[in-house]
Amino acid sequence: MRDPRITRRGLLAGGAAAAAGALAACTPEQTLSTGRAASGTAQVALPAGGAATEPFHGAHQAGVATVPQAHVVFVGLDLLPDTGREAVVRLMRLLTDDARRLTQGRPALADTEPELAALPARLTVTFGFGPGLFAAAGVAERRPASVAPLPGFVIDRLEKRWTGADLLLQICADDPVTVAHALRMTVKDARSFARVRWAQRGFRRSPHAQAPATTQRNLMGQLDGTVNPQPGSADFDRAVWIDDGPPWLHGGTTLVLRRISMKMEKWDAADRVAKEFTVGRRLDTGAPLTGRVEHDEPDLAMLDATGFPVISEYAHIRRAHVRDPGMRILRRVYNYDEGLTPEGHADSGLLFASYQADVARQFLPVQRKLAEADLLNEWTTPIGSAVFAIPPGCSADGWIGETLLS
Ligand code: HEM
Repeated sequence: MRDPRITRRGLLAGGAAAAAGALAACTPEQTLSTGRAASGTAQVALPAGGAATEPFHGAHQAGVATVPQAHVVFVGLDLLPDTGREAVVRLMRLLTDDARRLTQGRPALADTEPELAALPARLTVTFGFGPGLFAAAGVAERRPASVAPLPGFVIDRLEKRWTGADLLLQICADDPVTVAHALRMTVKDARSFARVRWAQRGFRRSPHAQAPATTQRNLMGQLDGTVNPQPGSADFDRAVWIDDGPPWLHGGTTLVLRRISMKMEKWDAADRVAKEFTVGRRLDTGAPLTGRVEHDEPDLAMLDATGFPVISEYAHIRRAHVRDPGMRILRRVYNYDEGLTPEGHADSGLLFASYQADVARQFLPVQRKLAEADLLNEWTTPIGSAVFAIPPGCSADGWIGETLLS
């Protein structure tokens, strides 16, 4: 339970870091979660080793419901001027062919380092279409309205170098060499059609280093991914896969990618109780402040001895909570760490990847509530933002994007 001396006012007026100075040290019960499988990491037996593959063909693209791999690079490309529909079709056929081969441990066509393709390490290559691609291909009227830049939020400090893009490649694998090779092969093939706008590398605990059913921790040390749709469930299908609206997108989804920097030195100044109060969960177990184990349901109505909610009105999990499980977002997040700035500060944070059937109905209401008031905003700042339609998967003789462009 939290110390009654922490008040909402203390946290909001001076920030949790300031309030933290007055707090007693935390004495956590060391209760480990024995709850159900963590989200995004359903109870799946992973084939071990670098030879393991994820299927490429199917109704959905891989890399969304897939148990998150340890490494990612998100690449945002801008189409070159005068790249029209025919050129985009050629590009997508080429990139699909690369992905089809590389994900199954076969070299890309004209692979200059074919030996590097031999260990796919559960490689997935997922493609996304940004607003500019629809315009360039002359199919702007088929773009879902919410596949567009997000409205600005007061917390945003967006930098152009991390924002927007016409085409997304999301390359994930359990091995960084595999990711680097797939990145090189695909970007090489895209070069005649597009230029790289940004590349964002991320990592998370390898599903081989900890049980796949265990929730990973972000760089703030929090268990991140507890409340998330479970792949294979009806709620996941409803929350993530599109089955109404434009027929070309059925079986697809949308991605909002936010680059969120963390002020780690400032976070270091807060003590554990303040950190836990900020999120509404314990750092050790991930349990809600009103519960005992990670997957206990938070009791948002519980009051402390002073009459304040145990889980603050401004705690991250209260602000972000969505009651209907089929309307939640799928958070498949990665940490980033670019080392230190020239001034010696941590340059790290979260690549917040959110997949949902509908950006406007699912992502935006949550982001709005967090931007209005979320104690976590004291330490986190969105510095990049991009939105993509993730087309459905394809069959063995198809290509990604065919339902939109052929
Ligand atoms: C650096 C930024 C962020 C950090 C460090 C962070 C961290 C966390 C943590 C520790 C939890 C609790 C455990 C869990 O359920 O996973 C959580 C929950 C959640 N977060 Fe975040 N988060 C961040 C940004 C965001 C953003 C931008 C959104 C959406 C716009 C978001 C949406 C959610 C949702 C929906 C939940 C589950 C709430 C529930 O209990 O129902 N988070 N986050």
